[in-house]
Amino acid sequence: MTTGEENRYLTQPSDKVPYFYPKNKIPVGIANENGDKQIPSLFNPLTIKNLTINNRIGVSPMCTYSTAHDGPDLGKVSPFHSIHYGSFAIQGPGLIIIEASAVEPNGRLSPEDVGIWSDEHALALKPIVEFAHAQGVKIGIQIGHGGRRASGTAMYNALQRGVGKAEFGWSDVPGAIVGPSPIAHTEEVYVTPTELSVEQIQDLVQKFGDAAKRAREISGFDFVEVHAAHGFLLSSFLSGTSNKRTDQYGGSFENRIRFLLEILDVVKVDHQPLFVRVSGSELAPHLEGSWTVEDTVKLSDYLIEHGVDVLDVSSGGNSSQAERRKPYQGFQVPLAKAVKEHVGDKLLVATVGKIEEAKFANEIIENGDADIVLVGKGFLKNPALVWKWADDLDVRIKHTTQYEWPYYPPPFN
Ligand SMILES: Cc1cc2nc3c(=O)[nH]c(=O)nc-3n(C[C@H](O)[C@H](O)[C@H](O)COP(=O)(O)O)c2cc1C
Repeated sequence: MTTGEENRYLTQPSDKVPYFYPKNKIPVGIANENGDKQIPSLFNPLTIKNLTINNRIGVSPMCTYSTAHDGPDLGKVSPFHSIHYGSFAIQGPGLIIIEASAVEPNGRLSPEDVGIWSDEHALALKPIVEFAHAQGVKIGIQIGHGGRRASGTAMYNALQRGVGKAEFGWSDVPGAIVGPSPIAHTEEVYVTPTELSVEQIQDLVQKFGDAAKRAREISGFDFVEVHAAHGFLLSSFLSGTSNKRTDQYGGSFENRIRFLLEILDVVKVDHQPLFVRVSGSELAPHLEGSWTVEDTVKLSDYLIEHGVDVLDVSSGGNSSQAERRKPYQGFQVPLAKAVKEHVGDKLLVATVGKIEEAKFANEIIENGDADIVLVGKGFLKNPALVWKWADDLDVRIKHTTQYEWPYYPPPFN
């Protein structure tokens, strides 16, 4: 036992996890000193409602297709997910968004998708959240439903042998695959969905609401992102190419966005930020009724009214006939910029897509094209991407206690 003066040199335990973990008195990833130099915009903290993120770099949601596909652990995260997300969290991104997590089992994109349809599923996610919090890193979860693109297979299978109707999942179960209208995403690959009844739509609104509540109250997430991009259920309601309904959920722009807005109304809470991801454009301007950047800009006004704090702008995914162009660095930034120019300070905007260089990422923030830069593949390649970008921009950031001392002389925080 050591007491008194010597205690000053004993590492204090974090109170964020139920095991010993050296306390990070200063959040990891924050630019805590930079000499006389100005801190680049990419490393400026940002306050979103009650939440402050330590820098503007976020881990984009990325499916890992790695939960059990049968048995009692179906859809539940495992130690793999703690290691995977922990490897990002320990390196101090401003925020992390956990992969698309299904609000009901039939909404999974593949049999190995993460689910958040029960309290047990939410509880399984809690250790990941706690570990991020022990770093002072903010973490949220993307909640979604695959709609007519549900019941596929993991991309690493699909790339080898195609998705194959009914081969892997539950698409041969009558009524299990649903959408706004009975139009298949791609005839050869996906089944024709069953048109959701108004009653089923209302049931799903509730399921999104329940999933968000669990994410906050049981897992302890700092925010929720509603997945309305990439041709999954909500995205397919937005677009006139996939939504041919004649009731209050189809036809006019206001009708097509209604399902999303009803979900936002049950998901939002006063005390936490709400994120939404949309495809800024369906990239199919030749198709009548396709979702365009002008639609996204128009939608942004409704999102503000319905309590959204961050609009995360991606693109594509709803149409098999979308334009295919080779992505270049920041290829989706113009979509985010169009929204940002329209909304000003009324809504925060995140951009994503092949953002590979620190200087480029910093310019996005500095120019005001977006408020947050999300990165996907870059974090898979290097979970310490924030550290690398800090080095590239000549910024000293706080590292986790165990990793800091070999690099920097004391005193440590
Ligand atoms: C392995 C992988 C899984 C993905 N899963 C999701 C997902 O669950 N939800 C989502 O909205 N986007 C998903 N995406 C898209 C990414 O979030 C991101 O928008 C895209 O990869 C472009 O960013 P990047 O060029 O930095 O990777 C995924 C991308 C990858 C590479």
